[in-house]
Amino acid sequence: MSNAEDITPSPYRRTHTCGELRPTHVGANVVLTGWVNTYRDHGTGLIFIDLRDRYGLTQVVFEKGESPEELLTRSDKLRGEDVIAVEGKVRIRKGGPNPKLETGEIEVVVTRLELLNKTDTPPFVPDETTDLPNEELRLKYRYIDLRRPTMQRILSKRHRVMQVTRRYFDEHGFLEVETPILYKSTPEGAREFLVPSRHQPSDWYALPQSPQLFKQILMVSGCDRYMQICRCFRDEDPRADRQAEFSQIDLEMSFVQRDDVMNLIEGFIRRLWKEVAGFDPPPFPRMKYRDAMERFGIDRPDTRFDLFIQDISDIAAKTDFKVFKDALAKGADAPRYASRRGVVKAIRVPAGGGAEKLTRKLTDGYSEWIKGFGAGGVAVVKLNAQGTFETGIAKFVEVPGIKEEFISTLALKPGDTVLFVADTYAIATKSIGELRLKIARDVGLVPPSGPEGGPWNFLWVIDFPMFERNKETGKWVASHHPFTAPLPEQQKKFVEASLDDDDTIESMVSAGYDVVLNGSEIGGGSIRIHDQAVQSKVFALLGLTPEQAKEKFSFLLEALRYGAPPHGGLAFGLDRLVMHLVGTDNIRDVIAFPKTQTGADLMTRAPSHVTDQQLKDLHVKSTWVPTPKT
Ligand code: AMO
Repeated sequence: MSNAEDITPSPYRRTHTCGELRPTHVGANVVLTGWVNTYRDHGTGLIFIDLRDRYGLTQVVFEKGESPEELLTRSDKLRGEDVIAVEGKVRIRKGGPNPKLETGEIEVVVTRLELLNKTDTPPFVPDETTDLPNEELRLKYRYIDLRRPTMQRILSKRHRVMQVTRRYFDEHGFLEVETPILYKSTPEGAREFLVPSRHQPSDWYALPQSPQLFKQILMVSGCDRYMQICRCFRDEDPRADRQAEFSQIDLEMSFVQRDDVMNLIEGFIRRLWKEVAGFDPPPFPRMKYRDAMERFGIDRPDTRFDLFIQDISDIAAKTDFKVFKDALAKGADAPRYASRRGVVKAIRVPAGGGAEKLTRKLTDGYSEWIKGFGAGGVAVVKLNAQGTFETGIAKFVEVPGIKEEFISTLALKPGDTVLFVADTYAIATKSIGELRLKIARDVGLVPPSGPEGGPWNFLWVIDFPMFERNKETGKWVASHHPFTAPLPEQQKKFVEASLDDDDTIESMVSAGYDVVLNGSEIGGGSIRIHDQAVQSKVFALLGLTPEQAKEKFSFLLEALRYGAPPHGGLAFGLDRLVMHLVGTDNIRDVIAFPKTQTGADLMTRAPSHVTDQQLKDLHVKSTWVPTPKT
């Protein structure tokens, strides 16, 4: 906004925003526009209004003797959320400064008032001092909710993230290219949203889960470096950090190896955090997938607190505890780390580091809770102040020889509690990883996230397995996606491996990498397959016949035959980046118009009914039968 002195105010033309005026403006004649935030009538010919716009709040005053008499009467009729323009003179705030407002040193004495639009009584006020209404109401009247300063700050932070992103990648030679939204159904992982074609009866478009194949094709096109801030669609059940419609910062580069991509991308995140959060992250540690699983039981470790997991199968085998013995008997012939092999895993919760908060009630509850992850239960033991094991499975470990080995392997001190999970590698690892997080939450080890909260712990996870077995179908699925290459040194072994050599397939390591921040996966990518034979082998392993692969991916397989350069890339979840930067656990807070848990937009009421004629035009017939009312 320009300087007040240079401008002759006209009724609707504001000279300043509501966040702008300072003591240097005292004496200036200004015009402000905005919403009536609060209204206070002191009854003695003195009315105060806090006027609000995106930029802040300014106190405007209607004062007998200073403001025209008729304005005092008219202002009396103003209500919260009316839209007004006021003209007046800036003066030092008579009642003393308000340190809570950036404009708190001044006020504007009104000489002219325009009511630009009267509001109906709003369903709630976008005020941060009162309790927020429930989320349903906030989403239904999102335009009112978005008026809240917190939401305005989030929108501008999101905007800032997008600007820094575009600038960084432009500086590094990336081209922003838009890719289609009406796309083809491809088995990329999640369930797809489908759109019927009017011109081709019975054929369907699918909305893209990500622009993965287009960006790879752009590399074959010689684009060399691509970026896009794009919308992705996955018909999955929303979660706290997941929406069916979300945004990615999508990237791809040609003639690169894994380190080239990782270095450039790490540079981006460090720049982003420096510019948007004023925090300069140290270089990101790199953790192998295997180490992440061994120490944290999860491929996106939260390293803000300790509580490390240990494999204690060797000592467990020496005990007479049947649960341990039964677990260790599973897949005993399988290689170490094979998902079917039995293991016993333990977490030590140290005295002074949470053990005293682990009540019997909590630990008893864990046994039931962990069944949700497929494990049979949680065994517990405590080393008491006298150095004797007590509770839970104490009698199996308070055994000469075994006891000392337990204490030294787990580095136990008096007062520590140890929790155990015994099962196959796949189940024990995952469930103890979840248990670690639950214990940390229960005993208060997780720092609050966000700008004012705890640390920002970034790290790379690398060397993922290429494939894992789908629990329900038992079929191989790609851990990242089917276009991810094996590590270069493993490519030959992969091409030569027999499709039914399970242990070899399971041991294949991919050239994929994820960026993790405080236990959340903020981005993932890989070096891609640019060799048609390797790609065909992956499709075969995933159970696609050559005909099916051709039908779904002929364009990719063909493109790979016509001069595909080596390439790789990554995509960040834009919404997740913003969640961390603003410090919220709820993805809906960082999306202007998000959807509910059931995929509904409460404001527009999408999805909604369409007419029979519309369906007919699209050659679609609904098979849905309403449930009869009882
Ligand atoms: P991926 O599926 O790992 O990779 O997605 C990349 C990143 O997008 C974010 N993300 C989501 N955010 C909100 N809601 C969702 N439903 C959701 N799903 C994913 C996560 C994730 O790390 N094409 C590949 C990328 C590549 O290989 O280059 C892909 O989409 O932060």
